[in-house]
Amino acid sequence: MKIDVVDAQLDSFKTELIVVGLFSPAEEVPAELKSVDAKLNGAIAHAIKGKEFEGEYQQFRLVSTLDKIPAKNILLIGLGKKEDANIELLRRAAGLSARIARDFCGITEFSTTLHNIELDVSKEERAQAVAEGSVLGSYQYIKYRTVDKEKIKVIQSITLVGNGVDAFVKKGAVLAECENLVRDLANEPASNLKPEQLADVAKELEKLGVKVSVYDKKGIEKLGLTALLAVNRGSVNEPRFVVMEYGSGKRVALVGKGLTFDAGGLDLKPDDSMLTMKHDMCGAAVVIATVKAAALLKLKMNVVGVFASTENMPGMDAYKPGDIIPAFNGKTIEVANTDAEGRIVLADALAYTEKVLKPDAIIDLATLTGACMVALGNVCAGVMGKDKNLISHLMKSGNVTGERVWELPFFQEYHEQVKSEVADVRNLGIYKYGGAITAGAFLSAFVEKTPWAHIDIAGTSWSDIDLDYTRKGGTGFGVRLLVHALENW
Ligand code: BES
Ligand code: ZN
Ligand code: ZN
Repeated sequence: MKIDVVDAQLDSFKTELIVVGLFSPAEEVPAELKSVDAKLNGAIAHAIKGKEFEGEYQQFRLVSTLDKIPAKNILLIGLGKKEDANIELLRRAAGLSARIARDFCGITEFSTTLHNIELDVSKEERAQAVAEGSVLGSYQYIKYRTVDKEKIKVIQSITLVGNGVDAFVKKGAVLAECENLVRDLANEPASNLKPEQLADVAKELEKLGVKVSVYDKKGIEKLGLTALLAVNRGSVNEPRFVVMEYGSGKRVALVGKGLTFDAGGLDLKPDDSMLTMKHDMCGAAVVIATVKAAALLKLKMNVVGVFASTENMPGMDAYKPGDIIPAFNGKTIEVANTDAEGRIVLADALAYTEKVLKPDAIIDLATLTGACMVALGNVCAGVMGKDKNLISHLMKSGNVTGERVWELPFFQEYHEQVKSEVADVRNLGIYKYGGAITAGAFLSAFVEKTPWAHIDIAGTSWSDIDLDYTRKGGTGFGVRLLVHALENW
């Protein structure tokens, strides 16, 4: 997709559609549309005065220019009350306008002025957010559609009308494209995206100067990632362990859960819970996409991306409830439930990262628990750990990028609940509630002294509905959050 910035007058600019945002209650024609409206004999003023368009959030009205100016249509889009507005609103309005342009107007090119809306953030930040929202909103997963494929509209080109913001528009587009990569990987059927293929996607980052090491099953055996191997036993497909290294400077490791399919193992999931488990690799996908964004944006950081990837299947040799398995750091894990597999593969990935890769800080991302979804829904991800600075840093980045995280408590009692009588730790809390936190407490047993935070993205990685710039399916949540956290380290 092409995304440009042009400095042009709206009444002489040729485009299929110009998007203009208005706060509610809309009372008069915005200054930038005055000359356009004069040429349209007051059609916009008429819509506003007649209360046909009031600027309510998500309300929109299409005004045809009837060839009186080179642009074919004006899309008035409601932004709600000015006092409620923030940068995320611009992203959302941009995402919604891209969808209206494609699905309602049936066009593949449009222009926008949303970044010119007055807000108490810089014009550069506004332009970046509008680029992000527009590219994210244009996303659709149509790879496997064959019937009437030529009728499916695909946005080809977006133009921001303004000046001096090119670099930020480019950055917004890069972030959104990387997020769309996560969406593609999440949406890809699990039979077509096995650990080997997920590792291939990481390998492609070599073209950007990223050093990528891929370990196959034999390599994983040599490394001693015994917990990852245990989870893999029920699957006929080999696991992969991947380390990506970009840049120099402060060394931050991002560690992802890469379950390309989670059937639950012998503790098999019921059909409705299993249906979307092709997206259980979103942590790994976010790590790949964040390293990609770091390389494309040339961040001045040393980013180490790590992920452990396998399927969790109930095959003939599957690991069993009651098994006791060793992890990379020598600690033993009592398997109380084979469906709590993410924390087991992360145990190895985290311990390996700390001991061998020796970063200054570690952030892991995982679609780890249904309990986190119960607690926080799909609005924000859960974050936990003992490093208050790291957590508040992530919360700040979340608020700027709209990919919010909310801290869950991490009291000692939760840590007691994952102690085992027969091994060092249990992969399930002894008390059945607080599952998002006991999962985090389990992970903490595999990080000894490095500042570390765990982000549970189970609720935010997948959407059952279309929402402004979010499509049904994989959301891509986490890339903007991490890139912002890294560049403001
Ligand atoms: N991958 C799931 C968690 C999940 C659930 C992610 C829904 C995204 C959406 C994880 O491996 C899992 O199965 N967790 C179990 C743990 C339980 C057995 C303690 C869960 O949350 O139900
Ligand atoms: Zn599971
Ligand atoms: Zn899982």
